[in-house]
Amino acid sequence: MSSFICSLVLLLLAPLASCHGHHGGTVLVLGATGRTGSLLYKDLKKTSRHEVRALIRSTDKARDILGCDKCDESEGIYLGDITNVTSMIPAFEHVQTVAIATGLSGRGSPTQEVIRSIEFDGIQNAVKALAQETNIQAYGGVSNLRVVLCSSRGTTTPSSGVFGDILFYKLNAEVFLGSIGMTTSIVKPCGLSTQAGQNRTLKDREPKIYPALLSLPNGNGSNKMTRGSIRITTITIQRKADVPCKN
Ligand SMILES: *[C@@H]1O[C@H](CO)[C@@H](O)[C@H](O)[C@H]1NC(C)=O
Ligand SMILES: *[C@@H]1O[C@H](CO)[C@@H](O)[C@H](O)[C@H]1NC(C)=O
Ligand SMILES: *[C@@H]1O[C@H](CO)[C@@H](O)[C@H](O)[C@H]1NC(C)=O
Repeated sequence: MSSFICSLVLLLLAPLASCHGHHGGTVLVLGATGRTGSLLYKDLKKTSRHEVRALIRSTDKARDILGCDKCDESEGIYLGDITNVTSMIPAFEHVQTVAIATGLSGRGSPTQEVIRSIEFDGIQNAVKALAQETNIQAYGGVSNLRVVLCSSRGTTTPSSGVFGDILFYKLNAEVFLGSIGMTTSIVKPCGLSTQAGQNRTLKDREPKIYPALLSLPNGNGSNKMTRGSIRITTITIQRKADVPCKN
């Protein structure tokens, strides 16, 4: 399913990153050495007409997984950490689109503080780094900056335990993205695996917040998703009322 989700994300990115000149449209992948992020990064490197960068925390891991050589800025590979805005600023210079594939795996027992820092504060940090003045000017306004978040299904019904806390903070990140005035897309996969993509109809299971999310053209053997069916630009702040409370 992973490659399927990647192609969904790619479908989102393709039209997003197509209308600016010389060094316009630069795309940055966060979580680029992760399972989904690495597939996305490699696909983008192969198919995008624009500069594609990766944000990584370990040069050695990047060399193993991304097949880079120097694995430094000369190859579009930047060291940085989503829990630290300052560390991400250079990677975000001239970036129009950030694709966020960071996230905890649900294994182990991270504290709530750690979960929050990765799943929620980290997303806000990425948006802060993207919103640097030179990017806003280069792309003609905040609304032309783009955020694609790989979230998860089930965020509106977080259960108890670590996984529930992860989903809870992912939901907060989704709601936050709905309020920032940038062009945002949220992909909500379920049950990612490394098997080849299949032709399946994804149904919207969370109609209250995402009326059009994850609906696919049906009965056609096609696994293309239209841009309009997944793009979210209208989640309003009042939806905060739907965010479940959790202490
Ligand atoms: C954040 O990143 C900057 C730049 O890389 C670094 O100088 C600073 O020490 C980092 N802060 C923390 C708390 O790690
Ligand atoms: C999905 O549909 C396409 C187009 O009909 C076909 O080429 C492909 O083999 C199908 N893939 C699977 C996994 O069924
Ligand atoms: C399949 O999709 C194409 C392109 O969207 C459309 O023109 C065609 O009518 C569809 N076929 C069926 C059987 O739905």
